[in-house]
Amino acid sequence: MFSRYKKPTEKARPAANRAAPAAAPEAAPATAPVAAAPKIQRAAMAPKRTQVAAQAAPEDKEKKRKNKLAEVKVELHKALLDNLNLAALETASDNDLKSEIVAISAEALEELGVVLNKEERATLHQDLFDEVTGLGPLEPLLKDDDVNDILVNGPKQIFVERAGKLSLSDITFKDEKHLLRIIDKIVSAVGRRVDESTPYVDARLQDGSRFNAMVPPIAVDGSLVSIRKFKKEKLGVDDLVKFGAFTEEMAAYLQAAVSCRLNIIVSGGTGSGKTTTLNALSSFIDNDERILTIEDTAELQLQQTHVGRMESRPANVEGKGAVSQRDCLKNALRMRPDRIIVGETRGEEVIDMLQAMNTGHDGSMTTIHANSARDGVSRLENMIAMAGIEMPLKAVRSQIASAVNVIVQASRLQDGSRRMVSITEITGMEGEVISMQEIFRYERLGLAADGKIIGRFNATGVRSAYSDRFKSWGYNLPASIFEPIAAQ
Ligand SMILES: Nc1ncnc2c1ncn2[C@@H]1O[C@H](COP(=O)(O)OP(=O)(O)OP(=O)(O)O)[C@@H](O)[C@H]1O
Ligand SMILES: [Mg+2]
Repeated sequence: MFSRYKKPTEKARPAANRAAPAAAPEAAPATAPVAAAPKIQRAAMAPKRTQVAAQAAPEDKEKKRKNKLAEVKVELHKALLDNLNLAALETASDNDLKSEIVAISAEALEELGVVLNKEERATLHQDLFDEVTGLGPLEPLLKDDDVNDILVNGPKQIFVERAGKLSLSDITFKDEKHLLRIIDKIVSAVGRRVDESTPYVDARLQDGSRFNAMVPPIAVDGSLVSIRKFKKEKLGVDDLVKFGAFTEEMAAYLQAAVSCRLNIIVSGGTGSGKTTTLNALSSFIDNDERILTIEDTAELQLQQTHVGRMESRPANVEGKGAVSQRDCLKNALRMRPDRIIVGETRGEEVIDMLQAMNTGHDGSMTTIHANSARDGVSRLENMIAMAGIEMPLKAVRSQIASAVNVIVQASRLQDGSRRMVSITEITGMEGEVISMQEIFRYERLGLAADGKIIGRFNATGVRSAYSDRFKSWGYNLPASIFEPIAAQ
């Protein structure tokens, strides 16, 4: 009956015919369908429950029914994946597809002897539809606003990050082929390709999420995927203060620093909140300034009206057409920017970034991958050396010292919280060494019983080297914000 979309070589019967639904529990996670994740989990737990509660209470009936529904979904997903020519289905119209799905599930339900009410049928159809048109098992995770990152290690392991903590989800792909099909779907939608000859890809999804995939044989145990989900509402300064990422006092200092056009680098480890911090800091920029942003994957969401966004591009399959961040940056300097924001400085563009900071584009900002302010400076030195610039170390350092004013260190602590653990100013050179002074820091005081870190932000007592500049620009920061709270 669904001949148009049937795989030519395979049986037309849904898998439901071949596998008894009662055998589904262990198989459930393996074929976990789209929005059915929590129900699948219940299905997996079903055998245990029936053993424990021998005489099922009446309210268990509803649970059993739900389990049954989850099993049916698993079977139908299998039927769909096993028997349909998914490539052909993808070109079908939504309506065709929906009626096809309705037809398949009606047949399978009849064979399984399962009667569903209207609502259950609608959910089931939507799940199946998601599988074909959406990103299969990834769909519920993409829709879940609490999930920040999705990390796939082969078809049977999907980790998710919620509130800074990584945990293994019970969602899985059917097999590597299923996972590869979803990866292929994602990358082809954004005009990219990934296969044995180009086994990895970095892309921005249509919804703005950042996507990276690496497929076998480079990925040894199955494809590796990481997705940093796009947040419609980026965290602003107020949110970050509320979440304890930094204090009002630190925010006041940062506002003065941004407004007085200090050059700022946000340093931090992977997923420590660098981009979020950069985005929040950019909100302090005046609305009448012309801002140009350069990123490998456009993530920043600036609120100002006068913003030009650029995104670098890798070479195509023939090895042509690459536009690097450095190319964008060089071009940006000809576009009369007031400020330049580079999403992450990670290579040869460092030279142009420092030069821009030194030559009239003060107030520029970027992020780097480093574990402390001092480490951040070393990273900059290394990047310059690796860009093939032959300059004596002292000259490199003085270039950095005069370009960078403030380094903000972001960190994801072991309890999952993300905090601005340090704000450090670069004050110049002493001999061959770049001199720095820390203005604010996060002090760890202990560990609560629930694993949460007990700590507080504190000023170091050092007066900002830019106090006069702040004052002359009209930012009269009270001296008290630089005074440390005495240790208790
Ligand atoms: N202070 C915070 N509180 C709660 N969530 C946060 C905080 N800062 C960042 N996040 C969330 O953490 C995730 C990672 O943040 P972000 O993308 O800014 O990190 P990053 O350091 O730029 O990561 P990468 O190294 O991968 O570029 C995002 O989903 C973001 O919304
Ligand atoms: Mg980032």
